[in-house]
Amino acid sequence: MNQYEKLQALEAEIITQGVCPELKEQATQLVMGDGNPNADIVFIGEAPGKNEDEQGLPFVGAAGKFLNAMLAEADMDRSDVYITNIVKYRPPNNRDPLPEEKAAFWPYLVRQIEIINPKVIITLGRHSMEYFLPGQKIGQIHGHAKRISFGDHKLVIVPLYHPAAALYNGGMRQTLIDDFLRVPEVIKQI
Ligand code: URA
Repeated sequence: MNQYEKLQALEAEIITQGVCPELKEQATQLVMGDGNPNADIVFIGEAPGKNEDEQGLPFVGAAGKFLNAMLAEADMDRSDVYITNIVKYRPPNNRDPLPEEKAAFWPYLVRQIEIINPKVIITLGRHSMEYFLPGQKIGQIHGHAKRISFGDHKLVIVPLYHPAAALYNGGMRQTLIDDFLRVPEVIKQI
């Protein structure tokens, strides 16, 4: 099986094992991820919103357009990276994912990362950050790369603000853009 097929098998497993049945019930579909299954950089957001739920792809609404624009400015394209979320069904009315929902999806996210085997993970917002950098505050560490042990190997984590949170907040928006544009440099240094 190649990486694409392994990700498809993992997606089928999430469905057949009935992860988060209440979320599944009200969602249109599972949103597994998008991009290159062999990418060096993986972006991890929070959970699908309305547009993502309808299209079956992560970050395709307003936050996704903002993410695409920052990728383009940093000379990257969605097809160079892989984009996913910690929770893979849309929470009702776009509420925050619950701790038990994040915990239920975490083992599948770990396996998804093991299949892709990236060098760098960029967390978008605190919901995915807290699993890789527990106890840290996003306001203090955004934009700073940290090396962590992940299973048998090492990974670099770059925590960024969530594009949806930053979209309409002038100060946070500029901070996210600045952090984002420094990512290639930060990765090179580590
Ligand atoms: N916000 C997220 O965290 N993920 C998406 O896929 C879309 C918006």
